[in-house]
Amino acid sequence: MSATTAHPPAPETAPGPPATAEGAARPRVLSGIQPTSDSYHLGNYLGAVRNWQILQADYQPFFFIADQHAITVDWDPKLLRERTLRSVAQLLAAGVDPEKSAIFVQSHVPAHAQLAWVLNGITGFGEARRMTQFKDKSAKEGEGAASVGLFTYPVLMAADILLYRPHYVPVGEDQRQHLELTRDLAQRFNHRFKKTFRVPEPYILRATSKIYDLQEPTRKMSKSSSSPSGIIEMLDDPKVTAKKIRSAVTDSDGEIRYDPDEKPGVSNLLSLLSALGGESIADLEEQYAGKGYGQLKGDLAEVVTNYVTPYRDRTLELLDDQTYLLQVMAEGAGQAGPIAEATLRDVYQRIGFVAPGTPAR
Ligand code: TRP
Repeated sequence: MSATTAHPPAPETAPGPPATAEGAARPRVLSGIQPTSDSYHLGNYLGAVRNWQILQADYQPFFFIADQHAITVDWDPKLLRERTLRSVAQLLAAGVDPEKSAIFVQSHVPAHAQLAWVLNGITGFGEARRMTQFKDKSAKEGEGAASVGLFTYPVLMAADILLYRPHYVPVGEDQRQHLELTRDLAQRFNHRFKKTFRVPEPYILRATSKIYDLQEPTRKMSKSSSSPSGIIEMLDDPKVTAKKIRSAVTDSDGEIRYDPDEKPGVSNLLSLLSALGGESIADLEEQYAGKGYGQLKGDLAEVVTNYVTPYRDRTLELLDDQTYLLQVMAEGAGQAGPIAEATLRDVYQRIGFVAPGTPAR
């Protein structure tokens, strides 16, 4: 009854999924990413996108661009459209393969918004208010600054997930609370109506939290908190990236050693080199003993350049072929849509909605 699937290799993930599938050949995974920037940065890439590519080997993946989540804070329509295309192109460039994964855009599958509405009805106001994303923004800027969309954001995310009955949801640590809510809502619904949803397991990707801002190495590399010079953008001209690496903040003791507390800058450079080059931090420390920061930065710049160049070239090439991108999205929605609609039909029936139809004469 249960088949064991090998763990995906390499990424620093915890807990590794035991991956037992009931009947299904491969356990299902689902994740989403917001189209809120022109380029993914290295933190996004190592934390999410690269893992998505790896997961394809052993799982049945559903990956989508969360355009509906992107409108819970201010947005520009032109940019949103462009960034959605860029996101799809980057997933493909990262090796997410439409033959193996359903790649789609959230708003192309109306069931997401439809199920979110139902889940809104079983979510407590206080429960939603405790979600940190909303809480932080309203604490900082006053409750009036946040939209109702931001308030109910985690409920839409729960709908995204539950529609597909996935076994695992690979996300960064920052999404853990949203996943807890998702599990609560699934259990509540199953209990109150009838068992409808699988209660998904979080699959927390640790790598995201390990990449820090180049200028403020005690801070996570993040679009919202970093200055442009602290972020490595995957689509930047590699020359710009090399320059950012050369100006990364280090310290004055001159020793190359991994010590995140005392030497956050140097430690971050070592983590990056290890993540991209595949050598362990200990090996790197040995290799760089007695060498200078300039050498470490130069080597890292080269490794990063070699790493991002094919990704960037491929993304730009794909962006020139919108027909193809639209076709990928349409195929993805074609795979995802019927599954989502079937779940939604079960939900509607169980909560007492009358099924539409013409009465037989
Ligand atoms: N909230 C997630 C983020 O910002 C994106 C997201 C939306 C998501 N819906 C999802 C992730 C469903 C996993 C599953 O990173």
